[in-house]
Amino acid sequence: MDNLAIIGLQWGDEGKGKIIDYLAKEYDYIVRFQGGNNAGHTVNIDKREIIFHLIPSGALYSNKHLVIGNGVVVNPSVLLEEISSLRNMGIEPNLHISYRCHLIMPYHIAIDERREKTQKIGTTKRGIGPAYTDKIARCGIVLADLLDREEFEGKIRKNLEKEGISEFYPEKIADEYLLLFEKIKCFVCDTRVLLNKAILEKKSILFEGAQGTLLDVDFGTYPYVTSSNPTIGGICTGTGIPPKYIDNTLGVMKAYSTRVGEGPFPTELKGDIGNGLRIKGKEYGATTGRPRRCGWLDIPTIKYSCEINGVTSIAITKLDVLDKLPSIKVCTKYKIKGEIFEEIPQSIVNWDEVEPLYEEFTGWMEDTQNIKKKEDLPKASRVYIDKIMEMIGISVSIISVGSERNQTIEVE
Ligand code: IMP
Repeated sequence: MDNLAIIGLQWGDEGKGKIIDYLAKEYDYIVRFQGGNNAGHTVNIDKREIIFHLIPSGALYSNKHLVIGNGVVVNPSVLLEEISSLRNMGIEPNLHISYRCHLIMPYHIAIDERREKTQKIGTTKRGIGPAYTDKIARCGIVLADLLDREEFEGKIRKNLEKEGISEFYPEKIADEYLLLFEKIKCFVCDTRVLLNKAILEKKSILFEGAQGTLLDVDFGTYPYVTSSNPTIGGICTGTGIPPKYIDNTLGVMKAYSTRVGEGPFPTELKGDIGNGLRIKGKEYGATTGRPRRCGWLDIPTIKYSCEINGVTSIAITKLDVLDKLPSIKVCTKYKIKGEIFEEIPQSIVNWDEVEPLYEEFTGWMEDTQNIKKKEDLPKASRVYIDKIMEMIGISVSIISVGSERNQTIEVE
């Protein structure tokens, strides 16, 4: 089995959790490589909803190796909560966590909240940005630092002084984190060695992207982005696996667009249609519960994302959310200052001037949720999918028509 990367092509929340859960049965290793508990990957099984924030979404299958690579920032108390909720379901996760993972500290969460007051990004306030900031500034604290209490406490003290934070006590944080570490240290290892050995043994790997390409710190709608690389390159830096072992890339996109937090969103629908999509699509953040902004599909951004990630096939999700719309629009081009563009603006400044140009499709006005084969889908919905894929220039391999595992259509 070839190794597969699963990457979000929009602003996150594309339904990756469901697709990863659906495909995980075929793979030996499921690997997170970036982000942290800002992610909320939702899996629905037998009418039960399970949301993963840190543990890879393949956790519901027994005997899978679940890897949290070095590129992930870890909040140990969130991790423990997730481990215990899996244990409550009778699942003992076969977890492997890189000792190089940077830790999210309580002061990171406080800094995240404080910064939101002056630079509004609409973050998840989970301390993600400040933890990555410390990593890049070379003053971050990694899991391996917990092996030496004195060193660990010293680093905390220095960081608190540097930030001028007085409401936290280094001894107290050290006590708390060492206690948490006792409970997770059995999972901590060199995941780079583990994964490269798995490759030599011809085991198969599924790389689980969190967030989406347009939230990438390098290629997203900067500065309205997350602080990691949810794009393909993040796999190499976040796991220590060379690119030649990433065989295929499945890009996941919703049949429409959503975004949570601030930042450009040219096809946003602020009226009844947007509200309707939010209600039908249950578009509320899996991590924060915030209502997501909803809009029409945006082809220039999807093409851009496919190019960056070298997408080899596409999973389109939530097609059923469009079932009752008499007509559906798709943005095919952008107009900026009277000029037509097929590509997204190079500069953040231009985003405000983007006027989306639409192609209109007839809606199918039929339920698609119980359909199992593409050829059984209403004709208008097949036209919608085929036309989109033609515009993107990549073929569809999965169509999702509901949140349950069995509401998935595989396309030859
Ligand atoms: P942060 O990752 O918490 O720093 O938030 C930065 C931006 O990324 C904000 O707009 C968040 O709403 C967005 N974001 C972070 N994680 C996710 C996610 O998993 N899905 C969708 N948006 C996300």
